[in-house]
Amino acid sequence: MATPSLEAVAKAMVAPGKGLLAADESTGTIEKRLAGIKVANTEENRRAYRDLLFTTKGLSQYISGVILYDETLRQKAADGTPFAELLAKNGILPGIKVDAGAKDLAFCPGEKVTEGLDNLAKRCAEYVKLGARFAKWRAVITIGVDIPSSTCISANAHALARYAAVCQQAGLVPIVEPEVLMDGNHIIHRCEEVTEWTLNAVYEALYLNRVALERSVLKPSMVISGKDCPEQAEVAEVAERTVRVLKRTVPGAVAGIMFLSGGQSDELATEHLNAMNKMSSGRLPWTLSFSYGRALQAPSLKAWKGAAANAAAGQAALLHRARMNSLACAGQYNASLEEQALAA
Ligand code: 13P
Repeated sequence: MATPSLEAVAKAMVAPGKGLLAADESTGTIEKRLAGIKVANTEENRRAYRDLLFTTKGLSQYISGVILYDETLRQKAADGTPFAELLAKNGILPGIKVDAGAKDLAFCPGEKVTEGLDNLAKRCAEYVKLGARFAKWRAVITIGVDIPSSTCISANAHALARYAAVCQQAGLVPIVEPEVLMDGNHIIHRCEEVTEWTLNAVYEALYLNRVALERSVLKPSMVISGKDCPEQAEVAEVAERTVRVLKRTVPGAVAGIMFLSGGQSDELATEHLNAMNKMSSGRLPWTLSFSYGRALQAPSLKAWKGAAANAAAGQAALLHRARMNSLACAGQYNASLEEQALAA
């Protein structure tokens, strides 16, 4: 079968009512998630957990793709099928995190730059052979006293653009992920300002690096109040400010926008997405969807607790959150649906 074009893959990622499951936690990050349910971070436990997620029946109704980590892309389901093959057979696109993590940025205390450009073309070629269809690179921008600096914004924008160009040349759709962190006590206006600055820099860098926007997906953070800010903006304000910034900065040619959850609670991440879609009711040039990690997985991890006997409960929790977010893509989510699910 011919490999689908990058445009077709990007379109499939943002198909109506569908989003991505980010299951690409590095070995260090998944350790934190597993520690939360007192499960040891062994290779087999990581495999078993991902097996549970990926074999959830009906997942493809709400999930168009799954972002994997290098180790996971090489692992197999219990029946011996490689995860990438299993997902593809179920109509879910396999993706791969290709960055090597955010590292301290020289001369810029408190700021990070994402590494991973070395050998990227070679690694992408291997990932394509292993079945990956799209890739992810996450840049982090920290808000604090006198930061972010323009050094940090431009270094991260440049790296994101270099990554995106390499991916497209290798045959992967790049997810461009500039995350403005919610850590800190800043008011929402500051987050809006920094997000606008960041996205402008990112799209300028993508242009300079000849990236075809139609073959790319944006994964931004939402415009929200700092986690420790005493004044937490309401859902409507988050939705308005986020959509306003996106309209100002993201070209209409971009295939779609799939938000990260960034540490928001699972239900709040759904509410925010729903509010944005409800207020814009199809009038935006791009789809607004989700690419959540924690906000999709947290209830599932809690239900599973590392016990095979709880696997079905873990899958039911994932399917429920995926369905809630699918409804939010159409502005049709309602918090009362959560209670109905609990009562069921
Ligand atoms: P969160 O939704 O937990 O922020 O994870 C999404 C992701 O892929 C971060 O890079």
